[in-house]
Amino acid sequence: MITKAIIPAAGKGTRLYPLTLTCSKEMIDVNGVPTIRYIVDEAINSGIKDIYLIINKNKKDIITYFDSLSDLKANIHYLYQEEQLGLGHAVLMAKDVIKDDYFACLLGDDLFDCPIPALKQVISVYEKYNTQVVGTLKVKDEFVHLYGSSKILDDNDPHSKVLLDIIEKPQGSFPSNYVSQGRYVLSNKIFDFLEKKEIGTGGEIQLTDSLSHYAKTYGSRISVIDGIRFDIGKLEDIENAREYFKRKRI
Ligand code: G1P
Repeated sequence: MITKAIIPAAGKGTRLYPLTLTCSKEMIDVNGVPTIRYIVDEAINSGIKDIYLIINKNKKDIITYFDSLSDLKANIHYLYQEEQLGLGHAVLMAKDVIKDDYFACLLGDDLFDCPIPALKQVISVYEKYNTQVVGTLKVKDEFVHLYGSSKILDDNDPHSKVLLDIIEKPQGSFPSNYVSQGRYVLSNKIFDFLEKKEIGTGGEIQLTDSLSHYAKTYGSRISVIDGIRFDIGKLEDIENAREYFKRKRI
């Protein structure tokens, strides 16, 4: 059973300046609810009981917000990442506290609306194959360079494929249109690769590089998520998410 999840939330949110000079990116409002709440609710609705938010000292507004909620059906814990060295480095911060064989990871920039919670779909693939799983969507060619692109083997499961390799933000040719979208079931063994602190795309310690090593060493799958997703790391997409969820509520 997957009961623990990490949510990296220590990034400075520079793409959203000046909005993020006064509040954490994760606290930006989408129709009266901070974006991080959508992510936490998705985790809870996917069966997660313990959520580890990876933050830094400037993210006290996130702690204040969760302290103010009395009805949350999960425990919130905080881990600190003081240097922003990349997503892989953020995940590494959980090494000493997560001892489970497998755990979930959700990225705060990826907001989903799905018939079944996105993470729950990824966990279903994990439960079927008992292996590490990367949540993906199929995107058009022109968007692949923004994401981690999967090299896959199709074995006729409509919800999942074998993951042979994954390349972070490929320039030029790319292995496939199935790109990682911020939902993962990770094996504890991922920490062995992350600990090597290999520098990847953009001079950062990328999670994708460790996913690649893991897939080649132990095998992995992708989950093909059924749903729509907003990248709320960009202002125009926050506006799209606000419009979408407002219309949904009416
Ligand atoms: C991160 C990951 C990338 C993934 C993307 C969307 O990139 O490194 O592999 O596809 O999130 O979930 P970022 O958007 O933070 O640059």
